[in-house]
Amino acid sequence: MILLDGNHTSSVIRKEIQVKVTQFCQNDVRSPHLAAVLIGDNPASQTYVRNKIRACEEVGYASTLIRKPATITQEELLYIIKSLNDDPQIDGYIVQLPLPRHIDEHAINLAINPEKDVDGFHPYNFGKMALGLPSFHPATPMGIMMLLDRYQIETDGKHCVVLGRSNIVGTPIALLMSKKTKPGNATVTIAHSRTNQLKEICQRADIIIAALGIPMFVKSDMVREGAVVVDVGINKMDDPGSARGYRLVGDVDFPNVAPKTFAITPVPGGVGPMTITALIENTWKAFYKKW
Ligand SMILES: NC(=O)c1ccc[n+]([C@@H]2O[C@H](COP(=O)([O-])OP(=O)(O)OC[C@H]3O[C@@H](n4cnc5c(N)ncnc54)[C@H](OP(=O)(O)O)[C@@H]3O)[C@@H](O)[C@H]2O)c1
Repeated sequence: MILLDGNHTSSVIRKEIQVKVTQFCQNDVRSPHLAAVLIGDNPASQTYVRNKIRACEEVGYASTLIRKPATITQEELLYIIKSLNDDPQIDGYIVQLPLPRHIDEHAINLAINPEKDVDGFHPYNFGKMALGLPSFHPATPMGIMMLLDRYQIETDGKHCVVLGRSNIVGTPIALLMSKKTKPGNATVTIAHSRTNQLKEICQRADIIIAALGIPMFVKSDMVREGAVVVDVGINKMDDPGSARGYRLVGDVDFPNVAPKTFAITPVPGGVGPMTITALIENTWKAFYKKW
């Protein structure tokens, strides 16, 4: 069984980006600059943003964190977005989700300049991705594609079952896997909470990409021998034995599924770090095309 190591692959790719930054950003050329907007005090969001800022430092990017309380109005947030759109020093930025309920996520998304939309959530970029045109791809699916590529996992002609149809993971990864690309060219089935005979569908999969948000949902009897399993899930499970009182598990029952697979991602250390690396890669693209 091959462990698809997102930590190792990320560090290799980030090193490559760091080298490009060092070579390109000399004399009068400034470094790439990523901004992050963090609203409220959701602990998971704080951790994600902190990791993104750390990754910027690792590769030599400048970064800016804009923190606002959860009481911010939509108009105030739209004003911040306009300032980021207008600032020539900012190459790309993200608005960390989820947003407080009184803010219309779609309106915020639409206000982001697609040229700076390094999360790839703007309909302009999503549409271009669907058409197979160059665009920013959403970070998690892009990170998965980069991981499959680096490990040279064969996807051509394979049956890929995607569990989940969210706009940030399930739907875009299904699109990317079905495109005439490498990796890609898979025959894709998208499953969701209304799917019948899910176990039988999974049993016919060469590749399973699990993005449901249900801890250890994918069991050993759902996976055929030699399958490739990508676990996107990040779930907290009570663990009184650990210092934090919990541990992170994925959407796959890793201990029982892993021995049957040809390759599998761990949680943590699989898709998570690749998501941040994809964001770093998108920021490089946003920066580089200006010069
Ligand atoms: N590693 C990373 O960087 C990263 C990034 C993003 C998300 N995640 C993790 O990935 C997981 C999914 O995230 P998300 O944002 O895509 O979640 P989401 O928006 O809650 O979507 C979950 C999807 O799973 C489907 N689903 C729920 N129960 C199901 C069942 N019993 N059988 C089949 N499908 C079922 C839902 O179907 P319906 O559409 O029918 O409701 C929905 O499409 C979460 O654990 C999240 O924390 C990780």
